[in-house]
Amino acid sequence: MSIPPIDFVAAWAAAMRRRPSRRLDPAEDRAFWQQYAAEYDGRAGAAGTATRCLALVAGLLRPDDTLLDVGAGTGRFALPLARHVRAVTALDQSAAMLDLLQRKASFHSITNIHCIEAEWPDAAVEPHDVVLAAWSLYRQLDLGVALARLVAVTRRTLVVLDGVGCDPPHRPLFERYFGPWSESELPNHLYLAGALWQQGLLAEVQIVTETPTMIGETAYEIAAQLAPLNTPPEVVTALAYDLAPLLAPSEEGCCYVYQQAVGAVIWHASNPESCTKTFP
Ligand SMILES: C[S@@+](CC[C@H](N)C(=O)[O-])C[C@H]1O[C@@H](n2cnc3c(N)ncnc32)[C@H](O)[C@@H]1O
Repeated sequence: MSIPPIDFVAAWAAAMRRRPSRRLDPAEDRAFWQQYAAEYDGRAGAAGTATRCLALVAGLLRPDDTLLDVGAGTGRFALPLARHVRAVTALDQSAAMLDLLQRKASFHSITNIHCIEAEWPDAAVEPHDVVLAAWSLYRQLDLGVALARLVAVTRRTLVVLDGVGCDPPHRPLFERYFGPWSESELPNHLYLAGALWQQGLLAEVQIVTETPTMIGETAYEIAAQLAPLNTPPEVVTALAYDLAPLLAPSEEGCCYVYQQAVGAVIWHASNPESCTKTFP
């Protein structure tokens, strides 16, 4: 068996094992999302938090396409993208997340999304024209297998979105008040592109810059949006005080605007530039 000069799959697994705070156990991860679904939907997964990533994926879609969204969550991508394609399959391990997705779909009279509650990469799914996995491979210890399954069900284009390991300006404050940072500090996009390269597949890597914006009448309101749910008011007050230098005035009172880089790894099934070297 030949060994690649850089083993991205092994490096990814080693990095994951070094981070014991990650929810690597499927049952533990499902229990987390069961509790956190509503909060995720109102914050990180809310509409308007992935505007440019959505535009990038929408630009790859055709009206007659089928789209598979792996780790669809509460539908941040599946719901707005449904109007660009014939049919969407929203796959997620979490019943709570899919329940919210379905409720939002029926509220907006979106009828072309089919939800599958299942675990990736074990789920049995048909090939789709476009396959998306957005921030959902965080507990795939065997990245090679997870990506190979994604490739196997991709007819035309695979898009994987993940972090690039850059910190937002509020990270030091967040850690001061709430403990260790739980976001990945790794350039996940590079591991993903590298792991595809190990399978002989050349992917494009794009950096997409999102601009998360929080608006409030006061600094306290913005601090409350950043703080975990049920943070005591006195802690939110202290955070608001420290956050003030990062805020700017706005019509509503004040706002917190920062830039968030996202890695988009895009593989086209028709890509003639495939790598001839493979490392089985
Ligand atoms: C951070 S959320 C991202 C949700 C959505 N893609 C978005 O960008 O808003 C991660 C989602 O992936 C799902 N997930 C994580 N690992 C999974 C797996 N192995 N199989 C299926 N779903 C998974 C979680 O249940 C959760 O809903």
